Amino acid sequence: MNSVSIAQKPFLAVLAGQTISPAPLWLMRQAGRYLPEYRALRAQSKNFLDFCFRPELAVEATLQPIRRYGLDAAILFSDILTVPWALGQKVEFLEGEGPKLEPLRSARDLDRLELAGMVERLSPVYRTVAGVSAVLPDKTALIGFAGAPWTVAAYMVEGHGSRDFLIAKSFGMAEPAAFRRLLDIVTQATIQHLFAQIEAGAEAVQLFDSWAGVLAETEFRQWVIEPTRVIAAALRARFPAIPLIGFPRGAGGMLASYALETKVGAVGLDTQVPLDWALQVLPRTLPVQGNLDPVALVVGGLALKDGVRRILDRTRGRPLIFNLGHGVPQTTPPEHVAELVRLVREG
Ligand code: CP3
Repeated sequence: MNSVSIAQKPFLAVLAGQTISPAPLWLMRQAGRYLPEYRALRAQSKNFLDFCFRPELAVEATLQPIRRYGLDAAILFSDILTVPWALGQKVEFLEGEGPKLEPLRSARDLDRLELAGMVERLSPVYRTVAGVSAVLPDKTALIGFAGAPWTVAAYMVEGHGSRDFLIAKSFGMAEPAAFRRLLDIVTQATIQHLFAQIEAGAEAVQLFDSWAGVLAETEFRQWVIEPTRVIAAALRARFPAIPLIGFPRGAGGMLASYALETKVGAVGLDTQVPLDWALQVLPRTLPVQGNLDPVALVVGGLALKDGVRRILDRTRGRPLIFNLGHGVPQTTPPEHVAELVRLVREG
């Protein structure tokens, strides 16, 4: 990143290690069904994947929360499950049911995956990045993203969402060589996908490891830390100025090992992690992001005010990007997001 962008964009300045007041903010799932303009746009597509692959619609979805709230960063509108689709797996989003994938349940099933041509199949996503990049306000940064290998592989094996990803975990433990091969394929796919987003204009990237929290220490090290370390190293080698934010949701006591061993440039804190403890175990210079309970955003009022205050007070003197501990819930009243922005900007 050049120094001009960092000077103009508070989000990038914090990722470069600066402490800024008021803290820059954006929200995971800031584009979504809680916004009436999103629902109207979404109605123009036959299904969610089609929506993700139509740049004119995805650019607009990315920009909607920026126009409405003036957030400090836009996040590419897409989904982590576009990667399994581009590797050749059948992926669908059934209305009201979430994702459904044709599950990979054996070593032989992995033969169906094909890394060659993946980036070409995802070209509409990069056109979206370029389209957003061309029109974004000067002070707003553009974030690209991918699911982390464990989380993406977990959906690929399980075939759908789950509380505990028992099938995926069992497959990984019962067939370690095959699961290793799957993680390697997804790791390489993720590196290529992030590189292509950066080439199209993404100024920072985030890895969503939404299901890191279902793993015990041994698997956390092998399936979360190790692939993330490989991705962080590849990014650093090719794009040393592009920061990587790791979000290992539910990492708990593994948080410090995750941050130190993967060498991500910043860490997303989920809702459950005790904030003072996290700040104590993480290096003082490592930028942190998140931790506000999304329910406080849904409820608004005093719950929101107190939640914001607590985070701002405890992170004083540390590089902070304000965010939630998980995505914006569908039931969020849009005016509560405006109130959150006001509270954070008041400092
Ligand atoms: O943050 C943003 O605004 C950018 C876009 C974005 C989406 N999904 C859009 C989306 C991002 C960064 C994601 C990441 C994602 N997708 C994750 C990791 C973050 C997390 O929430 O833990 C995961 C696990 C997925 C997989 C996924 N996509 C699920 C489980 C679902 C169904 C649940 C639901 O809310 O319907 C989706 C669909 C999805 N992805 C929607 C959006 C706006 C809703 C689809 C719709 O409009 O009908």
